Amino acid sequence: MIKKGIILAGGLGQRMSPITKAVNKQLLPLYDKPLIFYPLSILMLANIKNILIIVNKGQLNTFRKILPEKNNLGIKIQYAEQKKPRGLPDAFIIGKKFIEKDNVALVLGDNFFYGQSLTKNLKKNLIFSKGARIFLHPVKNPQRYGVAYLNKKKKILKLLEKPNKPKSNLAVTGIYFFDNKVVEFSKKLKASKRGELEIIDLLNIYKKKNNLKAEFIGRGGAWLDTGNVKDYYDASNFISTIENRQGLKIACLEEIAFNNGWISKNEIKSSINFYGNCDYSKYLKTLIN
Ligand code: TTP
Repeated sequence: MIKKGIILAGGLGQRMSPITKAVNKQLLPLYDKPLIFYPLSILMLANIKNILIIVNKGQLNTFRKILPEKNNLGIKIQYAEQKKPRGLPDAFIIGKKFIEKDNVALVLGDNFFYGQSLTKNLKKNLIFSKGARIFLHPVKNPQRYGVAYLNKKKKILKLLEKPNKPKSNLAVTGIYFFDNKVVEFSKKLKASKRGELEIIDLLNIYKKKNNLKAEFIGRGGAWLDTGNVKDYYDASNFISTIENRQGLKIACLEEIAFNNGWISKNEIKSSINFYGNCDYSKYLKTLIN
């Protein structure tokens, strides 16, 4: 059972420059909350309470202002810094001490997931002792992503990073589950031509050992990219549409913690004080009245 999760929330955010020159992408608003709330909500929905957030060197204190170690969410947050964006598997080298002897989930700080059976699907996959799990989702422009080729039995035949002419539309999304070997395997990786440790290389190690399983978010679920400005605003509009129609918030961290039985009304009251007079606080008030 996976009980630990890492959020990789560094990166250059180059594609969103100049917006990301002074502010880390994960702290920008995705509609009504900082982007990082969304991947964090996914870990919390999967019942993961022990969380390491990896941020760029020098940005730790800014993140702490919104997600302090001593928080009202009933979860344990720790921080680590990444000296420079060396690639996604660097998360497991930086996170070695945090991971200890356990299995671990990784979620990219800029990934947005939404869908009815998502939580159930994630929880189901948390229970494994050996190997790795990836979550695939169809996309129109697979050449922008890591792409998986499957056989009829849904076994992974091949994984390719940003192929020029992809023959599969199944992209590897930004949530991954790994066994404890991930630390050892990540340390063995060599930087690619673009100077980064590649997640596809890491996944291929598991694949070679016949230890990589593909799961599907399913077409009823959404996986949205927030890598460039247009996609960022599209994701923001998606959240705005759903929240305003339903009157329910996506990724309200206190609501998830409260529903999980991790916090009481007192913590929600503390959060209302912490955020001050805003719509998010008004929503929190409706949860306890
Ligand atoms: P990317 O989309 O690869 O990079 P980025 O977000 O910095 O954007 P750009 O390509 O425009 O420069 O990263 C995916 C997520 O992982 C994102 O949330 C940043 C994070 N990340 C790190 O924290 N450290 C890293 O070394 C890398 C490569 C990414």
